[in-house]
Amino acid sequence: MIDFHSHFLPKMDDGSKSCEMSLEMLKTSYDYGIGTMVATPHFYIKQNSAARFLERRKESFSRLEEAIADSKEKVPDIILGAEVYYFRGISHYDDIEKLKISGTDLLLLEMPFEQWNKRVLDEVEAIHEETGITPVIAHLDRYLDYQKGTDNVDRLLDMGFPIQINSEFVNGFFTRKKAIEMITDGVVDVLGSDCHNMDKRRPDLGKSLQIIEKKCGADTVDNIYKKSRQLLGL
Ligand SMILES: [Fe+2]
Repeated sequence: MIDFHSHFLPKMDDGSKSCEMSLEMLKTSYDYGIGTMVATPHFYIKQNSAARFLERRKESFSRLEEAIADSKEKVPDIILGAEVYYFRGISHYDDIEKLKISGTDLLLLEMPFEQWNKRVLDEVEAIHEETGITPVIAHLDRYLDYQKGTDNVDRLLDMGFPIQINSEFVNGFFTRKKAIEMITDGVVDVLGSDCHNMDKRRPDLGKSLQIIEKKCGADTVDNIYKKSRQLLGL
C-alpha cells in the first residue's frame, strides 16, 4: 500500500524529531506492508519560501538516507512532497510547481480548518485551471465538522480532485462507520497515516487496511492501492 500523507522527515516540522524516530516510523510502516510513503512536511507560506523549504527538505532527507543506509533496515520507498496549507493567492503563486509531489503534477493541499467560503473554494478550483496542477485534498475527514449545514463538501467533491482520508478516521471507534461509508461510496481515492511520531500520531495505516479489508473486502483495498499507484505514475 501507499501512504500518501506523512511527517517522518526529521526536524522538518512538528513531525519526527530525529533520524531515530524517523527510522522507527518507517520500519513500523514497512512491517504493516506499506511499500511507499509520500513524505509531506507542512508548508506554510508565512513561514518559508518554497526555495528555503526545498533546501531544508533536501538536508533532512539526506540525513535520513544516511541513517537508513547505516541501519540496514528494510523501509518503504520514499517520494518527496509537501502538505501545502491553503493561502489566498495560491492559484497564482509562482513557486507552486516546486511543491508538487515529485514526479507528478499533484499537490497535497491542506484546507483551512474553518467553514470555507466561496472565495476559498473558487481558488482551489483555480489551482488546476491556472497551473494544471491537481490538488489532492488532504484528510477530508478533518474538515467535515466545520462544513456542517453547507454544501461545501459536495462542491469540493464536484471538482473531482483526488480525496485523501487519514487512518485515524478509519481506526477511530466513533468515526469508523462514516469512514467506511465514504469508502464504499467511492469518495475516497487515497489513504494517509498523517503520522507525526511514534506516540499519539503513529504510522497506523496498516490497521486501517485491516479494517477496510474486513468491512469492504480485499478488492476495495486493492482498488485504493491501484488508484494510488496510478496517481503517482508507479
Ligand atoms: Fe499532515
